[in-house]
Amino acid sequence: MTAQRVAAHRLTFGREPATYGDPQADLALARDVAAGVEASPGRMHDYLRARTSFFDRVVVGALESGTAQVVVGAAGYDGRSLRYAKPGVIWFELDHPSTQEDKRARLAQLGVTTSHVRFVAADFASDPVAERLRTAGLDPYQPCLFLLEGVAVYLDRDVLERLLGQLREVTSEGGRLAISVSTMAHDPLARARFEAAVARMGEPVRSHVGLEEAEDLLARTGWEVAPGDSASHGEQGTRERLRSAGLLVATAGAAREG
Ligand SMILES: C[S@@+](CC[C@H](N)C(=O)[O-])C[C@H]1O[C@@H](n2cnc3c(N)ncnc32)[C@H](O)[C@@H]1O
Repeated sequence: MTAQRVAAHRLTFGREPATYGDPQADLALARDVAAGVEASPGRMHDYLRARTSFFDRVVVGALESGTAQVVVGAAGYDGRSLRYAKPGVIWFELDHPSTQEDKRARLAQLGVTTSHVRFVAADFASDPVAERLRTAGLDPYQPCLFLLEGVAVYLDRDVLERLLGQLREVTSEGGRLAISVSTMAHDPLARARFEAAVARMGEPVRSHVGLEEAEDLLARTGWEVAPGDSASHGEQGTRERLRSAGLLVATAGAAREG
């Protein structure tokens, strides 16, 4: 339900252009998913626009610098694997089995080609994510970009930490990860409204991992928060604004001894 709502909002946003890919396939999926769902204007809408633009730019930046593997964690109805499909690039969509099953059924119904996408079903709370990604063909020795958009709040802290650790396990030094985390710590009213809305949808908030805590979790699991993602987000001022919106890019650090 929450993934469906994000798709409805995203349908109204301008997107990062690329010279490859199939935006029409992404739009067809989003329209199908968003049918009957209202995307009202407001703070959430504005936040989702900024978040979408951030992840788009990270993806296009990585693809343009030659990354040939992208893992979309908690993919929901994100259609970037279609919109930014590029010859030679393999996409891994990693998601909860029930969301993924519904997405795959919709894609099949719409006749959308997904031969470049490996669908990996996993409940992050209980399934071995690293093992499933390896089995699906992820090559730890080739550059990879991992996306975790809009999922941190739906995971308990220990589940998020384990997930970050498992993603670090399947990439070499230099792998990139983009993640969005909560910035509602200092706005109890916004936080209460958001919590009530998603609880009504049956997907309750499980944690509010804020910025500092997220940076700490990333460091503990072998990810260094990049001083900036120069490929996609240039200026220091822009990077600071993104950070304060909870939009982070991290790089896999050197493997630790023992
Ligand atoms: C708000 S949606 C975001 C979807 C997508 N990243 C986007 O931005 O459009 C949350 C996603 O988290 C996934 N999710 C929530 N809890 C999960 C869990 N325990 N294991 C795997 N995926 C989970 C849901 O299946 C859903 O796809």
